[in-house]
Amino acid sequence: MNVIIRPYKEDDRSTIRRISYETSDRGEQNRLVFSDPDVLADVLTRYYTDYEPRSLWVAEYAGSVVGYISGCMDPTRYKMIVVLRVVPAAIFRAIYNGALWRKETWQLIRALMRTWFQGGFPQEVSDEEYPAHLHINIMGDFRGQQIGKKLMEGFLLQAKSAGVQGVHASVRENNMGAIRFFEHMGFHDVGSQTVNLPDGAGFQVRKSVIYGKRL
Ligand SMILES: CC(C)(COP(=O)(O)OP(=O)(O)OC[C@H]1O[C@@H](n2cnc3c(N)ncnc32)[C@H](O)[C@@H]1OP(=O)(O)O)[C@@H](O)C(=O)NCCC(=O)NCCS
Repeated sequence: MNVIIRPYKEDDRSTIRRISYETSDRGEQNRLVFSDPDVLADVLTRYYTDYEPRSLWVAEYAGSVVGYISGCMDPTRYKMIVVLRVVPAAIFRAIYNGALWRKETWQLIRALMRTWFQGGFPQEVSDEEYPAHLHINIMGDFRGQQIGKKLMEGFLLQAKSAGVQGVHASVRENNMGAIRFFEHMGFHDVGSQTVNLPDGAGFQVRKSVIYGKRL
């Protein structure tokens, strides 16, 4: 399969947003947590497309983007932009789109508050050892064809050339395909993260493993 790995271009923005939405739950679309695709795509991709596009790479097949790897090399800058720009804009868009009138919004708020009361969102990974982070998503029909590997190799090379000492990524504990992929790429378990999310009328406890790799 003739797949091209290339840097992100502004024209790719809407496709990246769509792929992020369609693969947000271990590679599948998740309607249980939040069903507004624009708000979800804002939260999942806006930092990377709008504030750090140079760390975003896409896989293109027959003129269409079929996967991407996005990332951040500087965690301090990332946290500042997410808190001051990305989250406020997403909240504004959600309210504008009528989120306050939807039951799912209040279920999500309840779940996040429950997480907060149970000790917040611990992410036991050191910014000194693994400062960069990444997200990688390939459309279903294109998985298992070495595309993820090529995207990852390009991203790791870029991070190393930028003088970054280590990278990490969060993977759901039951996402076995992604776990095998990260292990194959030389990552290992360096922490964990637990969050409550809505599940119908109740909650689901969602555990993730943080995979890290020193460069
Ligand atoms: C995880 C993901 C990025 C891997 O990309 P990919 O293009 O499918 O993986 P590759 O074909 O490049 O695989 C490289 C190696 O990883 C391992 N691997 C990848 N997917 C695997 C799977 N489902 N099961 C077992 N091993 C797997 C294999 O060892 C493979 O090497 P090999 O085929 O030579 O044996 C992709 O499957 C995906 O987007 N999944 C859904 C979204 C997701 O879970 N993202 C990760 C969360 S951040």
